[in-house]
Amino acid sequence: MSVAKKDYKRVTTNTLSEMKQNGEKISMLTAYDYTLAKIIDGGGIDIILVGDSASNVMAGHETTLPITLDQMIYHAASVVRGVNRALVVVDMPFGSYQGNSLEALSSAIRIMKESGGHSVKLEGGSEVIESIEKILTAGIPVMGHLGLTPQSIYKFGTYTVRAKEDIEAEKLLADAKLLEKTGCFALVLEKVPAKLAQKVAGSINIPVIGIGAGNNVDGQVLVLHDMLGMNHEFNPRFLRRYLNLANDIKGAVQSYVTDVKSSDFPNEKEQY
Ligand code: KIV
Repeated sequence: MSVAKKDYKRVTTNTLSEMKQNGEKISMLTAYDYTLAKIIDGGGIDIILVGDSASNVMAGHETTLPITLDQMIYHAASVVRGVNRALVVVDMPFGSYQGNSLEALSSAIRIMKESGGHSVKLEGGSEVIESIEKILTAGIPVMGHLGLTPQSIYKFGTYTVRAKEDIEAEKLLADAKLLEKTGCFALVLEKVPAKLAQKVAGSINIPVIGIGAGNNVDGQVLVLHDMLGMNHEFNPRFLRRYLNLANDIKGAVQSYVTDVKSSDFPNEKEQY
């Protein structure tokens, strides 16, 4: 069942703006490879994020910091090959855009040229505004990311809810307005109080996509492997699991092992 208000053949940054204006919620999931990107694109997802969460999900790192620009480009190029409809957003990895706007521009150009992605996402507000401005000069669409910004985990020390205090909430709202004014086409808001997220979404005209930010925003994003139940160690309150794939896959592997060991597989029809 779909509750889309309009049938978009291809999602662009303009489509997302139209969705916000029409009150149509935007759906977004991560993907890091061709096969799953193709499946979720066929399932009607609006935005596919090649997240730097690949560092955790694909490579098993504790944080998102180790993933490199080359690795992000590899994942993004694989995703792009599987996508016909969704807008593909590629995370700029830690160290590829902070502090030097020219380096940020050349990282973003590499992502666009070598992966075929449609836009980039980077974390932070006023601290990275020069980098965002520079990337935008090349005609590359930029998505912002505020609230819990995992690339700054060693500054904050924890993955708990952000902007509960007034000072941090005011800075976040000011940053959201600044990102809009600078020209970002959308914004991810991660793990902030639902009331603050609602206020941000109501204060700017670009779409606000929440993760752990309540329902009164313009769309939602989840990490695909989390919502498919591939990982049972990560249990934040905001996560809704739609499948229990870890158990299903384990069960399938156990059956395969049994069939091989018992010489049940392959049977006569499964050979040449
Ligand atoms: O890298 C990622 O998966 C993300 C989402 C959590 C928004 O940035």
